[in-house]
Amino acid sequence: MRAVVQSRYGGPEVLEVREIDPPVVAKDEVLVRVHAASIHPDVWHVLRGRPYVMRVMAPRRPRHPVPGIDLAGVVEAVGPEVTRFEPGDAVFGETVRGFQWANGGAFAELATAPEDALVHKPERLSFVEAAAVPTSGLIALQSVRDQGRVRAGHEVLVNGAAGGVGMFAVQLAKAFGATVTAVDVAGKLDRLPAIGADRVIDAGQEDFTLGHYDVIVDIPGNRRYAEIRRALAPDGTYVLIAHDAYGTQGRRWLGSFPSVLPLLARSLFDRRLPKPDFAAPQKRAAMETLADFAEAGRLTPVIDRTFPLDEVADAIRHLESGRVQGKVVIALT
Ligand SMILES: NC(=O)c1ccc[n+]([C@@H]2O[C@H](COP(=O)([O-])OP(=O)(O)OC[C@H]3O[C@@H](n4cnc5c(N)ncnc54)[C@H](OP(=O)(O)O)[C@@H]3O)[C@@H](O)[C@H]2O)c1
Repeated sequence: MRAVVQSRYGGPEVLEVREIDPPVVAKDEVLVRVHAASIHPDVWHVLRGRPYVMRVMAPRRPRHPVPGIDLAGVVEAVGPEVTRFEPGDAVFGETVRGFQWANGGAFAELATAPEDALVHKPERLSFVEAAAVPTSGLIALQSVRDQGRVRAGHEVLVNGAAGGVGMFAVQLAKAFGATVTAVDVAGKLDRLPAIGADRVIDAGQEDFTLGHYDVIVDIPGNRRYAEIRRALAPDGTYVLIAHDAYGTQGRRWLGSFPSVLPLLARSLFDRRLPKPDFAAPQKRAAMETLADFAEAGRLTPVIDRTFPLDEVADAIRHLESGRVQGKVVIALT
């Protein structure tokens, strides 16, 4: 099969498209003919091997040579313990079990995925749209529903709303009945009203911390917590995702850990910060929720651009450019 192969850490130039053997299906896995696979920051982290601290797990190159985690496609074969899928089913999901920095093999004609990380593809979504959902949608759902506990009547602010996670966070907050203010940088604001943002703020023109919100979902994490707090209701919640901005801010060794760790410690006594949750992610249940929202027309992935498999390197360069609105997807068919 044709696949994108990464033989060492580095920039997009280390990626090659080659013929390799198809993956072997384990007993609880599904073999998927990939129709589309999306790119997200974790793909970038594993490609570059940054922050360097992650290389303790694999010092010279990633353990698995084929990048990509999120996919949509058609089931080709199933392992003997798989009960929910059969050949011919249209599916979407992730190729890895936990939330981990690892190459997952999705940038290939065939990929394996654990049964529990896949669900049936909603008919309303194309393969390209479905491939855009998994990791970004799961992070957005976890941030808005589980950590932010967003409900009807809440005033919610999403900072970094035009990115991969942000576009889903805005739509999910709307689906849970909130009024949503979306913040991003100039040039990335035009698609936000169409996905449901009630108000759009240009971060360069207006200081969102002068507003008042029940929940703030913050993707770039570019403001001090003292400033964020003044914009939060007394019983409000601040959910920080933190973003490495594809290496443009330095932080080569530890990435965003130094900005996240103090807040994790503070969450032990500050009730506006969600307590850390180290439980294994329930991907199947969360993916089913996302599929239901998509089928009901309440979640529509925003696709910035698609690239063919041969141009994955250009797709990564495009992601690194910072000009992306929504998701970048590799389309194989
Ligand atoms: N998406 C995923 O599936 C995924 C997977 C694993 C982890 N994550 C985590 O989530 C983070 C965000 O992922 P993402 O896919 O949403 O990234 P993204 O698509 O690059 O989105 C980040 C957004 O924040 C914007 N932004 C930057 N500075 C800002 C500012 N000062 N004010 C307002 N907005 C600003 C960015 O604009 P510019 O690009 O113009 O700076 C961009 O639109 C990642 O760094 C990572 O830690 C995401």
